[in-house]
Amino acid sequence: MPAAAVIGGTGLESYPGLVVTGERRMTTVFGDPSAPLVFGEIGGHGVVFLSRHGPDHDIAPHRINYRANIRALRDAGVERIFAVAAVGGIAPGLDSSDIVVPHQIVDYTMSRAGTFFDEGRVVHVDMTHPYTPALRERLLRGAEAAGVAVHDGGVYGVTEGPRFETAAEIDRMERDGCTLVGMTAMPEAALARELGMEYAACAVVANPAAGRGAAEITLEEIYANLERGMEGVRRVLAAGLAAGPG
Ligand code: HPA
Repeated sequence: MPAAAVIGGTGLESYPGLVVTGERRMTTVFGDPSAPLVFGEIGGHGVVFLSRHGPDHDIAPHRINYRANIRALRDAGVERIFAVAAVGGIAPGLDSSDIVVPHQIVDYTMSRAGTFFDEGRVVHVDMTHPYTPALRERLLRGAEAAGVAVHDGGVYGVTEGPRFETAAEIDRMERDGCTLVGMTAMPEAALARELGMEYAACAVVANPAAGRGAAEITLEEIYANLERGMEGVRRVLAAGLAAGPG
């Protein structure tokens, strides 16, 4: 069983270049994950791929069963997760299609099942560093080896969605120290931590965050920018997978 998984977000609903060896429909005590787990190889390295919003992108961020996704990956033997996510850029210097390897998260979500320890046992996991430092390093080394420019570090503010933010919300997030905004890093990162899995992410800037660009945010713009960024992400992941165990 591959020890590494890739969770693909908007713009990576399936994984071009993944040499598929099998597929498994899983279920968990928390329900079904967003999609069947796809087993395959990237550059000869075994990996499990899971489409976060479903293969047809029909599961909105606030409706994703994060617990089922993480539990299913763990049950399949996964020990480390490379998450891929589309984000809006808040900080100056982040251009559309740029790739960021974030190091911190601020959670603004409101209504998500965010723990495996809901009843029975009280457990508080340490989230000081929400992204596993060693796995982040692997992505950064992968980027260097692949010759893909990435931003080392970013603070990912997670909003509830599915609507985009107001300009004032983005101003507040910037004051809070957020440099990126997206809708899925939490509770995904926390749930991975609760099950003892390593977790790191490549975030692709799909658009300037609300109030930071000249035009309205549209899905057309997002998908066009993601197409360019995801090509780089796949090169980073391939090199990152080659740079470590499983
Ligand atoms: N806000 C929240 N999530 C996003 C954005 C955004 O601007 N772009 C892509 N995902």
